[in-house]
Amino acid sequence: MLQALSGPLSYPSTSQERQMKKTILSTLAATTLVVAASAQAVSFKKPEDAVKYRQSTFSVMATHFGDIGAMVKGDKPFDAKVAAANADIVATLSALPWAAFGPGTEGGKAKPAIWKEMDKVKAGADEFQKAAAALKTAAASGNLDNIKKAFAATQKTCKSCHDSYKDK
Ligand code: HEC
Repeated sequence: MLQALSGPLSYPSTSQERQMKKTILSTLAATTLVVAASAQAVSFKKPEDAVKYRQSTFSVMATHFGDIGAMVKGDKPFDAKVAAANADIVATLSALPWAAFGPGTEGGKAKPAIWKEMDKVKAGADEFQKAAAALKTAAASGNLDNIKKAFAATQKTCKSCHDSYKDK
């Protein structure tokens, strides 16, 4: 079960296993969609919980994004299905961290400027979400050149926000 859950990061070996991973992945996708739709309604008991939530979502997102990066750079053999599953997860998670930057949640590696320039941060988050959606489309096409371009474009949006708003 645990092994099956690691689907997008590992290689399916038998067709039965592949089918199982597919089922689990689509269940996961359905679950995360519900979370995404209610992201605005998310609330936190303590500011530390908001920090933990946004760091966790960034961390999981970065893991799946990095797996696509490894294929794009040729550090790992290209597998179109795995890339598509990862891009799907990145696109879904791209909607989540922003609700956890509410008033009074300063902390973590987030620069205090965020809370003074929330409109710019939101604009950066929108750019990123658009890029992640385009990466998902590119990955669904299975064309490595398209994925490379969309990956680079997405990575630019991560870096541009981190340069301004994240401590190293
Ligand atoms: C609009 C701004 C913005 C965008 C876009 C963005 N990030 Fe971040 N990211 C942040 C901020 C702010 C933090 C610090 C959060 C904190 O510590 O509270 C962060 C933290 C992180 C962390 C550290 C999480 C941890 O465990 O401390 C990782 C990894 C990360 N981002 C990866 C990415 C990747 C990969 C992308 C693009 C695919 C991305 N981010 C896009 C603003 C952004």
